[in-house]
Amino acid sequence: MERETWGSKMGFWLAAAGSAIGLGNIWRFPYLTGANGGAAFVFIYLLIVFTIGISVMIAEFTIGRNTNLNAVGAFQKLKAGPWQIAGWMGVVAGFVILSYYSVVGGWTIKYILSSFTDMISTSTDTTSYFLSFIANGPQTVLFHAIFMAIVIFIVYRGVGKGIEDTCKILMPALFLLLVILIIRAVTLPGALAGIDFYLNPDFSKVTGKTILAALGQAFFSLSLGMGCMITYGSYIKSKKESLPRSAATITLLDTGAAFLAGFVIFPTVFAFGAEPSAGAGLTFITLPKVFAMMPGGQIWSALFFLLLCVAAITSAISLLEVVVAYVIDNLKWPRHKAALIIGGTIFLLGIPSALSQGAVSINVLGMSFLDFLDFVANNILLTVGGLLISLFVGWVIPEIAKKETTAHGAFPFQPIWIWICRIVAPVAIFIIILGGFGLF
Ligand code: PHE
Repeated sequence: MERETWGSKMGFWLAAAGSAIGLGNIWRFPYLTGANGGAAFVFIYLLIVFTIGISVMIAEFTIGRNTNLNAVGAFQKLKAGPWQIAGWMGVVAGFVILSYYSVVGGWTIKYILSSFTDMISTSTDTTSYFLSFIANGPQTVLFHAIFMAIVIFIVYRGVGKGIEDTCKILMPALFLLLVILIIRAVTLPGALAGIDFYLNPDFSKVTGKTILAALGQAFFSLSLGMGCMITYGSYIKSKKESLPRSAATITLLDTGAAFLAGFVIFPTVFAFGAEPSAGAGLTFITLPKVFAMMPGGQIWSALFFLLLCVAAITSAISLLEVVVAYVIDNLKWPRHKAALIIGGTIFLLGIPSALSQGAVSINVLGMSFLDFLDFVANNILLTVGGLLISLFVGWVIPEIAKKETTAHGAFPFQPIWIWICRIVAPVAIFIIILGGFGLF
């Protein structure tokens, strides 16, 4: 059977942007910015994204388009031997990340529905509302199941009819929702204080940890280090398409979405005197409280959580596709069987995460099971994966890399790119890994 491809360049860009733009942009980026000195953090983040981030993305597209294979198969084809560990780690990361990502995706569905109940009321204690919801085992598992069912359905339909067509609708919808919410947020009385907090750099808050946080966030947000962009790159049909330009476009869209999300969160939070450094709870605890004080708050709340849910779905399908593509290419399973069985298995794997937030006590190394998986994925799987991918492209297949990135025409930054892959990215990533384990 012929391997599937994207129907158009725009379809590919929207699918890849859909993978990149997710919970990481709308929930995690504003919160990290708030906790790390506002604009100072944004500045460092941008620097990292447009040097290391974009380079690793070009590297992943190169491997993908050159082989037209999934993450594992691509490494096996280019070079037999231990390098394929990088591909295997990607498949494992797909399983692990999606299992808990889907749990949080389920929370967003619950919050869309609950927006129309007394959750959005000034007399509701949103902290205990959130805590009692996530401790409700049957409910969290149910919403995790609904979220996974949507994701499986899309991947089941295939690359073009499923992933591409879905992203072609959902990504413009996402930007529209973002624009509507920004207009509402920045026109609230008192919004200016939030914008000031967001854009005024405070370099005194920048430490080594800030830089590590920015590096880790860059990888997670751009969906790098686990073969996602290898897999999506493998569905590119034409050699005429510029890989560097595609990577630049997707990086810009992802960074733009994260930056714009800050213009929803901070003005809203400041206008109603809430605490911007509320951290992980900012989205599920602080915002419902703020919405309750706004006229038409129920609608704004539903729109916001819909935005979060859409962003999460288009990322989750890319996580499932990494594993499904492997099973289709290497084990020759039909797509339908692969989507159902792999997706079902990931659903089961997610149940302990869903229950670990208060329903049942499941702790590993002092963390809840969900936090533990997130820790392993970000600190080990994505980072080591990214390190291996850049070394591989820079040292093992430099000739192929040069050919792939100039197949469409000139790539003036090529020498810089190669050296980022060879030295800069691996060294920087190595430092993140040490930092992640608190070794300095
Ligand atoms: N980039 C996604 C986000 O920001 C998460 C993700 C990570 C998706 C790795 C795929 C691969 O939410």
